[in-house]
Amino acid sequence: MTLLISLPESMAPRALSSALLSLEPGLKIVTGHDNVQNTNEVEFAVVWNNYPEGLLLNYPNLKAISSYGHGVDGLLADRKLPEGVPLVRLKDDTMAGWMSEYLLAVVLLHRRQLLRHAENSDFIEWGIASRYHGNQLSILGLGYLGQAAAKVFLKMRFDVSGWSRTLKKIEGVRSFSGNDGLNEMLKNTNYLVNLLPLTLETTDLLNTETLSKLKRGAYLINVGRGETLVEENLIPLLDEGQLSGACLDVFRTEPLPEEHPFRKHKKILITPHNSSSTPADSVAPQILENYKRAVSGRQLLNLVDLERGY
Ligand code: NAP
Ligand code: GLV
Repeated sequence: MTLLISLPESMAPRALSSALLSLEPGLKIVTGHDNVQNTNEVEFAVVWNNYPEGLLLNYPNLKAISSYGHGVDGLLADRKLPEGVPLVRLKDDTMAGWMSEYLLAVVLLHRRQLLRHAENSDFIEWGIASRYHGNQLSILGLGYLGQAAAKVFLKMRFDVSGWSRTLKKIEGVRSFSGNDGLNEMLKNTNYLVNLLPLTLETTDLLNTETLSKLKRGAYLINVGRGETLVEENLIPLLDEGQLSGACLDVFRTEPLPEEHPFRKHKKILITPHNSSSTPADSVAPQILENYKRAVSGRQLLNLVDLERGY
């Protein structure tokens, strides 16, 4: 019984291996497909988007596949996944905390114009307020990460709304769903946070039409997936003032190409898909739990719904 870890070096596969072994010293772990000696022994695989399509078909006794993140779009992009093998994803509290921390930092950085102060402390007269008005913050995707963020912004006294496929009951948060719900929410939004998974329905959702429905001068944060934003629509909206700025952590092509126009735009803040990276120590217990459940034929935690795509 082998647990295979197939992650890019940037995701520190050995840190996961050590964390798992510290919980279960006898565990048989192989790091990297090239190091698998007997493909029949692999029963559980932890993967990210870094493997050639169809590679998981090499393991005839695979019982479950775990994404090493909250998102599964990279995994589902593999059109040759082994049929009938369940997929699970992570739900990690530390990641939710880091994501909320990032979102709060970005919103406050913008609201208080701190980057402009950093560039030029005389950009505004002494003693004059430089704070953006507008308190309405909306989150696309009220799932594990979106709900955690909503609670943080509520504590900071933002007026918080969220959009999801199914309506939610979260004290203090206005919940919307469907197209009409989306339009209603957007028109009352100063800060828009995208925390949707990438699916057929969420691809290209953020475009000239939808972003023009936001309050004038709204600020966009994309931490979901790059493909949800129609990238070429963003700069015109920033240049004509419909949006006052954007912070992007995810892109259609990652790493973001050197020559990409987003890199030079003054109103765009870019981070390298690290708003909430996976912490090995924190996620190892749930990976181990799912491994044990998979090999003993028990119900898995955090199953991905293949029909919905998340
Ligand atoms: P989640 O728990 O699965 O929540 C997804 C939310 O999106 C749910 O509220 C879901 O609605 C909603 N949703 C999905 N499709 C929809 C649609 N067509 N219309 C309206 N709402 C829809 O996911 P999560 O754990 O919060 O993570 C969200 C995403 O964040 C991940 O998929 C990943 O892409 C991204 N992420 C990024 C980073 C980073 O570092 N940048 C880190 C982690 C995750 P229901 O509640 O009704 O199902
Ligand atoms: C990161 O992008 C994740 O999906 O966990």
